[in-house]
Amino acid sequence: MKSRNVALVTGSSSGIGFETALQLARSGFNTYASMRNLEKSKNITEIANRENLPLQVVQLDVNNDRSVKEAIGRIEQEQERLDVLVNNAGYVLLGPIEQLSIKEFKEQFETNFFGVIRIIKEVLPIMRRQRGGTIVNISSSAGRIGLPLNSPYVASKFALEGLSESIAYEVEQFGIRVVIIEPGFIRTNLINSGTSPKKALDPKSPYFSLMQKVENHFKSMMENVSSSSPPEEVAKVILQAVRSENPELRYTVGTTIIQARMNMPDREFRKMIMQNFSM
Ligand SMILES: NC(=O)c1ccc[n+]([C@@H]2O[C@H](COP(=O)([O-])OP(=O)(O)OC[C@H]3O[C@@H](n4cnc5c(N)ncnc54)[C@H](OP(=O)(O)O)[C@@H]3O)[C@@H](O)[C@H]2O)c1
Repeated sequence: MKSRNVALVTGSSSGIGFETALQLARSGFNTYASMRNLEKSKNITEIANRENLPLQVVQLDVNNDRSVKEAIGRIEQEQERLDVLVNNAGYVLLGPIEQLSIKEFKEQFETNFFGVIRIIKEVLPIMRRQRGGTIVNISSSAGRIGLPLNSPYVASKFALEGLSESIAYEVEQFGIRVVIIEPGFIRTNLINSGTSPKKALDPKSPYFSLMQKVENHFKSMMENVSSSSPPEEVAKVILQAVRSENPELRYTVGTTIIQARMNMPDREFRKMIMQNFSM
């Protein structure tokens, strides 16, 4: 059945994407929960069937042109429109620049940055034709703040912020809104499923001690936020933005130090970060 409220979420196999797809469907959006590996669709499909939700799973690897074209082509064919796009798929690459290859940096950008561009370029003609839509890009506190051993991830999210802020001006004339979501630490698989170069994990590495400090900091942050910042909170904020007549450009959610970054001089802020990471 065709609907006027059609949504697509990328990276719906777990975490924020999983919860966002479910909350959109529960709010009546005809939701396409996309994921690169359909073997991970059992859980969301079971919930959708049990609750009789308007949700279907579609294969979509944000790194792959053909997969993106096929998924969006299918939605266009079935619904003739797309009202909400949530660019959520992403991962963390952790390590020192000296020990990361250009290939690893490029892969990080391929998913977190070029993946978003690939999808937006397919979706814009549809939204422009229907004269409306909302594009939600999941950035991070790391889209506003540099962190030790996080340069690929932080750079990819800074790039996403710049892209989002710029294209918002271009597409506004067609009734299309761009929203940036900046979660702080949220309880998901993100850190555990992140990757690091083997060299940095070698105890002989000159960065080994810093690597351990950073990993310990992230682990303890994840443990501390375990009850206060579930992915459902991010999904709620996304839904609020999508439903708003006049959404903000940026929404922060969860424990975040963005406000501190804005209020503190560089020198003081750097000191605080170094203390947090026991540097
Ligand atoms: N958790 C946090 O503290 C936090 C904070 C700020 C921002 N974020 C952002 O939130 C977003 C979601 O992360 P999460 O915390 O929910 O972590 P997550 O549970 O690890 O989810 C990441 C999702 O992205 C998918 N993905 C990765 N590469 C993909 C690709 N090439 N094509 C399609 N899907 C791909 C993963 O699929 P697979 O299952 O196939 O790997 C998974 O569904 C990310 O953009 C992340 O940067 C998270």
